[in-house]
Amino acid sequence: MKKIYAVYNGSFNYLEDIKISPLSRAYTFSDSVYEVIPFFNFKAIAYKKHIHRLQNSCNALGISINIEAISSEITSLIKNSRLENGYIYYQISRGIDALRSHMYEDSLDEETFGYAVEHNFNSQTLKVSLCEDIRWQRCDIKSTSLLGNVLSMNQAKKDGCNEVIMHKANLLTEGGASNIFFATDDCIYTPSLANNILPGITRELLIEEIRNLGLNFEEGDYNVEELSSAKSIWLTSSTKGLAQVAEIVNLNTNLITNHKLFLECERSFNNKYLS
Ligand code: PDD
Repeated sequence: MKKIYAVYNGSFNYLEDIKISPLSRAYTFSDSVYEVIPFFNFKAIAYKKHIHRLQNSCNALGISINIEAISSEITSLIKNSRLENGYIYYQISRGIDALRSHMYEDSLDEETFGYAVEHNFNSQTLKVSLCEDIRWQRCDIKSTSLLGNVLSMNQAKKDGCNEVIMHKANLLTEGGASNIFFATDDCIYTPSLANNILPGITRELLIEEIRNLGLNFEEGDYNVEELSSAKSIWLTSSTKGLAQVAEIVNLNTNLITNHKLFLECERSFNNKYLS
């Protein structure tokens, strides 16, 4: 396998040569946040938005960072990896404890880690499972505490699915690693950010495109019945782009593949960001 170009606490190295402490709070408490920054044709997609969200995640945890230094590491990872299309995974933990302790010392130095990996942005269709959203109350923070997502997604994997759509007591929230959009004949809908979801960058970019195209669009509170009567459902993320849902294994739907509203959104998004 090709060596993966990485950086740990400011030193560039190959991933396999990086050594970390088991007392990293990322390891013991998932006291850490992350970003996934896609790049296409050697150029980052929505770079400033990702950096801004990373800063917001750190602010939410009270981790102070040097965002200029981090931003320059991310740029270097993209440039020096020499990959044409891929993404950067970048993680920041609160630091390394002297001994595991829930309450941390204020003097800890933050711990940073990132790598560049190749990725193709070919469009994909998804088989998903609907499940209860069992996560905590701060899913707006892009934290590495993803156990709720991990458990639900791996349960769905047993049914041959590659994603989940979550709902909290019947109210739609988001995908396991993506945001949800769905469409009727003439309107596109997405759950509002008030529903304890991640403010996805792809979601934000797509909403801009939908507005530019002048399509009917609503952000709000939607339930499973509304999803069930949708003609088209798609999930968005930095690595998936716009991915159509072909089937929900445990919900009756009447989905049309290549619904015109989906195609318009996909064409417009791909022309702008993936061409
Ligand atoms: N995940 N919601 C969740 C829970 C996510 O994990 C992600 C992305 C998104 C979409 O966000 P964005 O459009 O900014 O990628 C929504 C990344 C890709 C991951 O964890 O690998």
